[in-house]
Amino acid sequence: MIKKLRLRHLRIFEEKEVTFFPGINILLGKNGAGKTSILEAIYVLNFSKSFKAARDEDMLQIGEDYFQIESEWEQARFRKAAVNYVRERGKRFIYDDAVIPRISDVIGSFPMVLQSAEDFRISAGAGSERRLYFDRFISQISPSYLRDLMHFRKLLKNRNACLKNQSEKKTYRYSEELEVYDQQLSPLMFRILQMRKKAVSAFNRELEKLYRESYDDGSHAEIRYTASLDAENEKDFARIHRESARKHCDKEVALRRSLFGPNYDKYSFCRKGIPLINFASQGEQKIWLILLKLAEGEILKRQGGEEPLYLFDDLFAELDIANSRRVVARIMEKPQALISTTDLNDLRRHGMDAVKGKINIIEI
Ligand SMILES: Nc1ncnc2c1ncn2[C@@H]1O[C@H](COP(=O)(O)OP(=O)(O)O)[C@@H](O)[C@H]1O
Ligand SMILES: [Mg+2]
Repeated sequence: MIKKLRLRHLRIFEEKEVTFFPGINILLGKNGAGKTSILEAIYVLNFSKSFKAARDEDMLQIGEDYFQIESEWEQARFRKAAVNYVRERGKRFIYDDAVIPRISDVIGSFPMVLQSAEDFRISAGAGSERRLYFDRFISQISPSYLRDLMHFRKLLKNRNACLKNQSEKKTYRYSEELEVYDQQLSPLMFRILQMRKKAVSAFNRELEKLYRESYDDGSHAEIRYTASLDAENEKDFARIHRESARKHCDKEVALRRSLFGPNYDKYSFCRKGIPLINFASQGEQKIWLILLKLAEGEILKRQGGEEPLYLFDDLFAELDIANSRRVVARIMEKPQALISTTDLNDLRRHGMDAVKGKINIIEI
């Protein structure tokens, strides 16, 4: 549970302190008040970077040279967490008065789930957006996945450089060098595959339940995962991998890049068996995405034993009232959620004002 947030020189805020409460915290403010920036700052504490800024520098208040995020928590791992960013020097994470040596160690420190306008990229964007979403999620619960993924990317880069090199020399055969890369890549790729399969089936279990509770019409939600290379065990995987690499080698050399592996896996979000991308309205997608986030939260809870913090940015935007009430009721049950909105009337419209004692309004 987050108790306090202090910001300095972050986006619109010269200096800002916010106190949060257990239960539902409504961040109320007009457009441009800084609601998203507050959620963004909290997000950085767990994911090490922003969900919307491409560079840390973008979060820096215009004209300033450093920003600070300080926070107080009540949770298992840390009580205090701070991020100091200095222009041209980068970020430092100080959790419970100790510097976190590697930025990747920050990830997962404060289990949280974020819903934001950027999520439409997950449902409607390119396949890479969905891969990114699941990679981030799995990294949060498994540091070894993140390590495998980083190692995989590094090897892949080198393998691609090797393909480029062969292409320049017009060597189209499956060289020893490529084979050595593939021997190293294979176990990594297999572990990534296993983790993704596990994650997808955990999501599907939760989604099924959540969908059933939220809709009466028997419609169901499902994530379909198609791996570019698939096998039941590591040995078969290595064999299939080697065969594909050998078979498509000339093409890979000509195109100067690897043509299979986890970076070609596909995730498809379906409702009533049809991919969301093909038909769903904005409102339907939004509900789907909120249920996805709630499923994410359930898995995090199961994994870590603690309830995650839920962050909902502009929760009510594009959300139709007819279908949202039960979804909103789910959110109300959470031990702590921060929800931003521009209009208090939205709470009433979506049936959120019924449980008065649980709601705290924080004006931004
Ligand atoms: N680096 C920055 N320096 C100063 N102001 C910024 C910076 N980045 C964004 N802003 C401003 O901060 C304001 C708050 O943005 P935001 O947090 O998205 O508000 P809200 O979510 O409440 O609509 C916006 O008006 C934006 O122009
Ligand atoms: Mg906003």
